[in-house]
Amino acid sequence: MSRVERKWDHIKLALDTGQLRKTGFDNVTFIHQSIPETSLDSIKLETKIGELVLSSPIFINAMTGGGGERTLEINRNLARVAKETGIGLAVGSQMSALKNAEERKTFEVVREEHPTGIIFGNLGSEATVDQAKLAVKMIEADALQIHLNVVQELAMPEGDRDFQGMLLRIGRIIDAVDVPVIVKETGFGMGIETLESLFSLGLLAVDVGGFGGTNFAAIENQRGSNKLPFFEDWGIPTSVSIAEARHLSNSYPIIASGGIQTSLDIAKSIALGANAAALAGHFLKVLIEQGPNVLVELINRLKHELIMIMTALGTNSVEELQKAPLIISGSTWHWLDQRGID
Ligand code: FNR
Repeated sequence: MSRVERKWDHIKLALDTGQLRKTGFDNVTFIHQSIPETSLDSIKLETKIGELVLSSPIFINAMTGGGGERTLEINRNLARVAKETGIGLAVGSQMSALKNAEERKTFEVVREEHPTGIIFGNLGSEATVDQAKLAVKMIEADALQIHLNVVQELAMPEGDRDFQGMLLRIGRIIDAVDVPVIVKETGFGMGIETLESLFSLGLLAVDVGGFGGTNFAAIENQRGSNKLPFFEDWGIPTSVSIAEARHLSNSYPIIASGGIQTSLDIAKSIALGANAAALAGHFLKVLIEQGPNVLVELINRLKHELIMIMTALGTNSVEELQKAPLIISGSTWHWLDQRGID
């Protein structure tokens, strides 16, 4: 199977497999505030990831790697949607375009459509320093995401089998590129052990890429003969992963992702400690099944609803929402209790 066919398989199966809705956000409840002392007009959605200023905490996460007209069209549409709604956008892995110049247009189209947007590049942790620099240059990226996807590789018959030296290579990329680096998981979450290693590198931000939404073990199990069913229930739920990251550090920017769909999911992510929330599978499904105009409407609705939630809580900014009081129950509470996180 060619790489182009594999990428298209991933998109189709991500739509069919859907979102697990096992993020743990159901265990997180806001404390209602009867006297919030604010107004809709006072709410500001602006947030920061290090030095990067985003006009809204919502952004479109990495999805489409290189390959053919169909993915180019998806990227063009995502860039148009990001421009119209004023939100950030991460492209999918650019590795294919580094290996095959023909595929560069799949990514270049994003910058052409949205010259002034906040756009993140994307590569795997196997990338070299030179590849990282080229990926940034290809789309004039404002930051570079380095994705971690060990479980997906293991579940993929043609996937990598050697995962040595990842931290070393990531460290070299952080030192060499002149944009901030964001290390992200891809649906299995990051816990304290992983995060301690990453924070020791002095990286800009982590995207927890938690369990509970798109499930690449399930996607690969449907594609291949090398079925590893136990990996379909493997990972750190998004709500837990955000709390573990924030427990470790008050200063590093944290991006919440993995199964986020609603404005309430976004608000809970921020209240657990995230600076921004990224959506992949849910946005892709809406784009492909209902088109770019419906996706624009959805994003505008999410922003509006987030303002409503922040008004009800009396939190005027993302920073204030990060401190909103919460009750955590059920399996999420058990998890955090055993990890010594309050
Ligand atoms: C992805 N994701 C992804 N991530 C990445 O860093 N580089 C990539 O090339 C891709 N490719 C990709 C393709 C498709 C079709 C999907 C649905 C997703 C992973 C994505 O960014 C995210 O981490 C996970 O999908 C979990 O978030 P959601 O989908 O539950 O919101």
